[in-house]
Amino acid sequence: MNYAQLGASDLRVSRICFGCWQLSPNFWGNVPLALWEDALQAALDIGVNFIDTANAYGNGYAEESLGAWFQKSGRRDDFVLATKFYWNFDQDSRHPDTRHDRILEDCEASLRRLQTDRIDLYQVHAFDPLTIPEEVAAAIKQLQSDGKVRWFGVSNLNAEQMRMYARYIDIVSLQPIYNVIERDVEKNELPYCQAQNIGVISYSPLMRGLLTGKYDRDQVFDDARATHPLFQQPAFGRMLDAMDELRPIADDLGLTVAQLSIRWNLTHPAITAPIVGIKNRDHIESIIKAADDVLPVDVWHRMAGIVSRAAGG
Ligand SMILES: NC(=O)c1ccc[n+]([C@@H]2O[C@H](COP(=O)([O-])OP(=O)(O)OC[C@H]3O[C@@H](n4cnc5c(N)ncnc54)[C@H](OP(=O)(O)O)[C@@H]3O)[C@@H](O)[C@H]2O)c1
Repeated sequence: MNYAQLGASDLRVSRICFGCWQLSPNFWGNVPLALWEDALQAALDIGVNFIDTANAYGNGYAEESLGAWFQKSGRRDDFVLATKFYWNFDQDSRHPDTRHDRILEDCEASLRRLQTDRIDLYQVHAFDPLTIPEEVAAAIKQLQSDGKVRWFGVSNLNAEQMRMYARYIDIVSLQPIYNVIERDVEKNELPYCQAQNIGVISYSPLMRGLLTGKYDRDQVFDDARATHPLFQQPAFGRMLDAMDELRPIADDLGLTVAQLSIRWNLTHPAITAPIVGIKNRDHIESIIKAADDVLPVDVWHRMAGIVSRAAGG
């Protein structure tokens, strides 16, 4: 496994991050916990030491499941543990809440669920229009001085919003959506992160599985993908055609289409680690080969062209 420094932090992370959103039953249905725990064990066995979750995933369920496994396995300290705050899910409907005292409470709740005494990377899940960055930064600094949080990261922020936060606190990572279909952050956010030495941990690097090329044209999804625009015809069919075009490129490199898509992600020099959504041992074991190397520049552009044509770009 290859490792990299996360931005200006002292965190040395595997170049594949284990994503825990899959333990959100509202989005992903019921993922069997035994298979998921087996995947955590497999991750450690193959050198994946970086894990990403959020308080909101399954309204605490993902953090609780992870905490229970830490307790059972005694392996907490083997992971760089990243989680997030932002969503208040006390009521039936969620709303953002990053006020100072709410962050302190959310952090305590995450620590309790995760059965740990510190969070290595605490990320604001998105930009809260009702709370100024200075207030968020003050809460995080307090948590840092209490030893409960080590480093601060942001997610789903644009470059201007990162600049606002950076006036008050060191940002060590950005977590944006990024894959060969969703490339908006190439314009401003990735260059900003490179210039500022901010690590980038890209989410949905397989576009929720679409970029694996493993689905048939008549695939039926019984989770939130059933209503996602890219999983509806005719977009879905066009994307599967694009995956068929990527397959010979993957074959030439001795890769699966899933590995090729992750290697495409990692080839951008701003990317520290794609976060792959994992449900079972095979997902994590089969993907790590992607991180062995980067793609030739011409292949990277050819892939982007194939997918952009399929998306109508
Ligand atoms: N910050 C944010 O706002 C945000 C938003 C979304 C996600 N995230 C983070 O990013 C992580 C990943 O993003 P994501 O969940 O959207 O999707 P993703 O990683 O793009 O796709 C995950 C799906 O890909 C398939 N898959 C995974 N590994 C595979 C492998 N080795 N071979 C074949 N198929 C494989 C599985 O599909 P099947 O289920 O069909 O098997 C899995 O459910 C999340 O877990 C979460 O930690 C963050």
